[in-house]
Amino acid sequence: MGPYIEISDTYAGYALSYFCVPKHYEEDLENILIPSGIIQDRIERLARDIFQDVKDEPLTTVCVLKGGYRFCTDLVDKITTLNRYHGSVSVPVNVDFIRLKSYENDSSTGDIQVIGGDNLKGLKGQNVLVVEDIIDTGRTMEKLLAILKENEPKTIRVASLLVKRRPGSTGYRPDYCGFEIPNKFVVGYALDYNEYFRDLNHICVINENGKKKYAVA
Ligand code: HPA
Ligand code: MG
Repeated sequence: MGPYIEISDTYAGYALSYFCVPKHYEEDLENILIPSGIIQDRIERLARDIFQDVKDEPLTTVCVLKGGYRFCTDLVDKITTLNRYHGSVSVPVNVDFIRLKSYENDSSTGDIQVIGGDNLKGLKGQNVLVVEDIIDTGRTMEKLLAILKENEPKTIRVASLLVKRRPGSTGYRPDYCGFEIPNKFVVGYALDYNEYFRDLNHICVINENGKKKYAVA
């Protein structure tokens, strides 16, 4: 894993009063862990690192929906900006979008299924970049990588905006990581809690009120 920003367990984040948060979420958040401007600045650097690593070869990004959609669009935007500014080097970018579904019948195995997206056979010989919002236990990503590798991509890398310091993690680390965060439930920037909070620009820690308000009945 390349360099990443480590957010310590004791970091208090920013009070909501310093930044703009939608009124409908004001009562539901503990603090702002990563303001949207810093998210953007960090993605700018990840884009540069990726650009320099794959230079002059096409890149196929595979965005893991729904949580990865904002990170993926911002990352691809920044890579295409580099393409415009560099006269001599460029990375043609292809985009695909997948969703993961866990098998319902046998929850004990925890197997996953890839749904949506193009035929995975098209990944053969490609430089694949999986774009994910967060690595939690690492189990989902390890299973996804096993599925993608069956299709014989030339290279396969993973960019995850966040990695959680989580007891019980498999130890999996992505190639590119924005921030390593404490073991807290975060929302915003397309990360959700029961489908809420995707419409929040900053990455925030949800509070007890928010968990209760948006719990599934
Ligand atoms: N927030 C949102 N989705 C998640 C998280 C989180 O903290 N961990 C795993 N999926
Ligand atoms: Mg996810």
